[in-house]
Amino acid sequence: MFQAPLTASPEAVVKSLFMRAEAESLASVRMLLREAGLPESDLREEHMEAFFVSRAGDEGILACVGLERFGDTALLRSLAVRADARGHGVGDQALKTMEAFAASKGVNRLCILTTTAEPFFEARGFERCDRTALPASVQASSEFKSLCPASAVCMFKEINPTSSTKKHRHG
Ligand SMILES: CC(C)(COP(=O)(O)OP(=O)(O)OC[C@H]1O[C@@H](n2cnc3c(N)ncnc32)[C@H](O)[C@@H]1OP(=O)(O)O)[C@@H](O)C(=O)NCCC(=O)NCCS
Repeated sequence: MFQAPLTASPEAVVKSLFMRAEAESLASVRMLLREAGLPESDLREEHMEAFFVSRAGDEGILACVGLERFGDTALLRSLAVRADARGHGVGDQALKTMEAFAASKGVNRLCILTTTAEPFFEARGFERCDRTALPASVQASSEFKSLCPASAVCMFKEINPTSSTKKHRHG
């Protein structure tokens, strides 16, 4: 199944707001991720509790972003914007939304795996790191263990500057 071309104006795209996903969002989220070439086979309705989505009127989901928590570290995953809505700041908005959400839940450090968007994350304060520098629980997650290719770049960002737990900074 393919989505119809986006008819919303760039202004409407930029004004889109991220809202907590609902369990019913799962199918649309998975379709968006498939189209963006990101892993989605492990996603279940429970994951939607830590997902945000942005909608454009009746046109369905424009973008999504998710979080998987492992203690004070969390994996930011599934950041995707519809191909025809990119370049208008929606990805940036998604990242900011998730950083604020994660910080409000007591997360101190975000990590990501990416094959294509390293410059996007680098421009937003993420630093490259070795996978082995992250907690074992993160390394054992399905994204790390099997879904993302070994060639994917691992990056992290401290989101709580007052945190004293900056132990995982290795290059
Ligand atoms: C990465 C992604 C979420 C960015 O969404 P977006 O809505 O286009 O992002 P924004 O409009 O907020 O920001 C665009 C900026 O990021 C840059 N950018 C976006 N994707 C990029 C990429 N893959 N590589 C390099 N730069 C990228 C753009 O050049 C632009 O730079 P500028 O702000 O200096 O002009 C989107 O390209 C996407 O869905 N990619 C496929 C899925 C993916 O790789 N997700 C990340 C891994 S979880």
